[in-house]
Amino acid sequence: MIHRRQIVRKVKTTPVPDLFMKKPFHVISLLLLLVSIAAGIVALRTESFARPGPAAASAPAIDTNGEIAALKAEIEQLKGKVPDQSHAMKDVGYHFANVWFAGQKRNWPLAKFYLDETRSHLKWAVRIIPVRKTKAGDVDLRGILEAVDNSRLSELQKAILAEDVGKFTNVYKQTLEGCYACHKASEKPYLRPQIPEQPEARIINFDPQARWPE
Ligand code: HEC
Repeated sequence: MIHRRQIVRKVKTTPVPDLFMKKPFHVISLLLLLVSIAAGIVALRTESFARPGPAAASAPAIDTNGEIAALKAEIEQLKGKVPDQSHAMKDVGYHFANVWFAGQKRNWPLAKFYLDETRSHLKWAVRIIPVRKTKAGDVDLRGILEAVDNSRLSELQKAILAEDVGKFTNVYKQTLEGCYACHKASEKPYLRPQIPEQPEARIINFDPQARWPE
């Protein structure tokens, strides 16, 4: 029967440390072995990529077709969820009507807010359909919007920043003419805008002196 202490001593004196410490040659050969195994694995993998077998060649092709079909179906589904141009324009009408009342009430920060919304929703509307097909040919809505934005809408912004209600009133009307020019170019002359009779946002107080809610 072997005593416990003997086992311990036996373990302690195993020649493993000698292999590494006293004979560096063994260390080098072990390292070389590891390196060549690693190189072998890399070579094998590279080869399987470089020269795929017939099964490997056709499998990704089937996958790609399947993925494209799935993406197409997903795009169709998303298209059904994207708002149409008329919806975006309805928002433009909503924001731009509020611009008028905010300006008339001299609530300039509110007028600025609704003008910014008008401009960004116009850009959105034109992103939805950038070019419209008409009897007269293709109408580039981007070009028309750019012209309206750089002239009328930026003038309106200046009037708001200058808090000039006279200029604001004039430029607002001119802007409506710009809106209508695009509606006509889009073969929609029946979309004739007017000075709105009431603000669209009923829940927003346009009075800049309002004190409630605090
Ligand atoms: C770059 C062209 C363009 C400009 C600029 C433009 N519109 Fe339009 N608007 C359209 C087109 C196109 C439609 C019809 C959209 C449709 O039916 O697909 C439209 C439709 C509308 C509608 C009807 C939406 C509905 O379904 O009830 C309103 C309201 C409207 N626009 C307001 C305005 C106002 C206000 C401005 C100016 C601040 C303006 N638009 C500027 C192109 C334009």
